[in-house]
Amino acid sequence: MSQLYYKNAFSLFTIKLILILWIIININIVQSQFTLKRRFTHNAHLIDDKLWFFGGGTMINGILSPTGDVFYIDLTKPFDYANVQYVAKAASPFSCAWCQSAIGNNQSKILFFAGVMIIPDSSTLTDSIVYSFDIKTQTWSTPSMTGMIPSRRRELQPVSDQNGKIYMFGGGSDMTQTIQIFATMNILDSVSYIWTTGSQLNSPLPRIDYTATLLPNGNIIYIGGSQSNLNVIHFDNVNMNEIDMYNTITGTWTSTMATGATITARTGHTAVLNKKGEIIIYGGVYSTSLVSSDPSIAVLNTTTNPYQWSIPSVNTSEVNPPNLIFHTANLVENYMIVAFGNLNIYIISNLIID
Ligand SMILES: *[C@@H]1O[C@H](CO)[C@@H](O)[C@H](O)[C@H]1NC(C)=O
Ligand SMILES: *[C@@H]1O[C@H](CO)[C@@H](O)[C@H](O)[C@H]1NC(C)=O
Ligand SMILES: *[C@@H]1O[C@H](CO)[C@@H](O)[C@H](O)[C@H]1NC(C)=O
Repeated sequence: MSQLYYKNAFSLFTIKLILILWIIININIVQSQFTLKRRFTHNAHLIDDKLWFFGGGTMINGILSPTGDVFYIDLTKPFDYANVQYVAKAASPFSCAWCQSAIGNNQSKILFFAGVMIIPDSSTLTDSIVYSFDIKTQTWSTPSMTGMIPSRRRELQPVSDQNGKIYMFGGGSDMTQTIQIFATMNILDSVSYIWTTGSQLNSPLPRIDYTATLLPNGNIIYIGGSQSNLNVIHFDNVNMNEIDMYNTITGTWTSTMATGATITARTGHTAVLNKKGEIIIYGGVYSTSLVSSDPSIAVLNTTTNPYQWSIPSVNTSEVNPPNLIFHTANLVENYMIVAFGNLNIYIISNLIID
């Protein structure tokens, strides 16, 4: 039953809200010259019928090793999730763990932001904190940027709007001696490559490892993660009912309280938005105890007022959702494709320390 074509496999699963495929690659798979290793803090983007993966950290004997792997899964081909067929491409010009990315520049480029972004096979940081990948030509470049260019950040989620602006709230410092958690809204215009900052008025506390989801009305919805107060770094779980919103049209922050099912706090989870205006979150751990959040899957309905949490029923004899952090989730038609991530949470002690 693991062999399926995603486009005609809808009858295989009976989860009401969404169908879930788990691409959990536990062992190293070797196809041709390329060894695919389990990873976390990688990036995944759906481009046409291909799900592209970039970078991510692998753990080798307890040591974080950033990769520059680039590969895709062709979703029009048979899908065997015990042995995922992938197409390896040339490595990126940098190796990266804890990098973040977003599609910008009129959907033509993927922008990658450091993160532990290093020159391959070295421990030397890249000069540029931004690399761009041209989707059509599959070539890399470092844009020349102006404005309020931020320092290296990690553990934040960029969101791009229709106009090519990429919004990056908060995150932690990286590869510096001073550990800092930010509450700044850094905005990159991916057409002009000018950096600006958004309003600080009513902004959330410094925060990492949340999810950010752009709604069609222009609001970015921030869910969960860990927050610190402004002066002393001390992580608290963000209350899952506290929904912070940044309006990309007016440039203002507001917040609202969701109701409904009780959803335990989490950090390192993922979120996808479906066409019905429901945000499906998955995975993560309770940051103060490092215990996996339960339920692992939950849905925030943004079409109701107030927003409402619910817990979808999952037939565990069909899929048994593993506890994951720092995985990726991409919505492909009715499927959420979850890939890689950490099953073990030992890495989290390394959360903000290089
Ligand atoms: C964006 O891309 C589309 C399709 O490639 C093109 O038709 C359009 O002119 C582009 N817009 C801008 C502002 O470059
Ligand atoms: C979200 O709310 C709409 C009504 O606004 C409802 O039709 C839909 O079933 C709700 N979704 C969930 C997951 O409860
Ligand atoms: C759960 O899945 C199994 C295997 O497909 C199926 O036999 C069973 O009827 C399902 N249970 C429910 C409640 O849908």
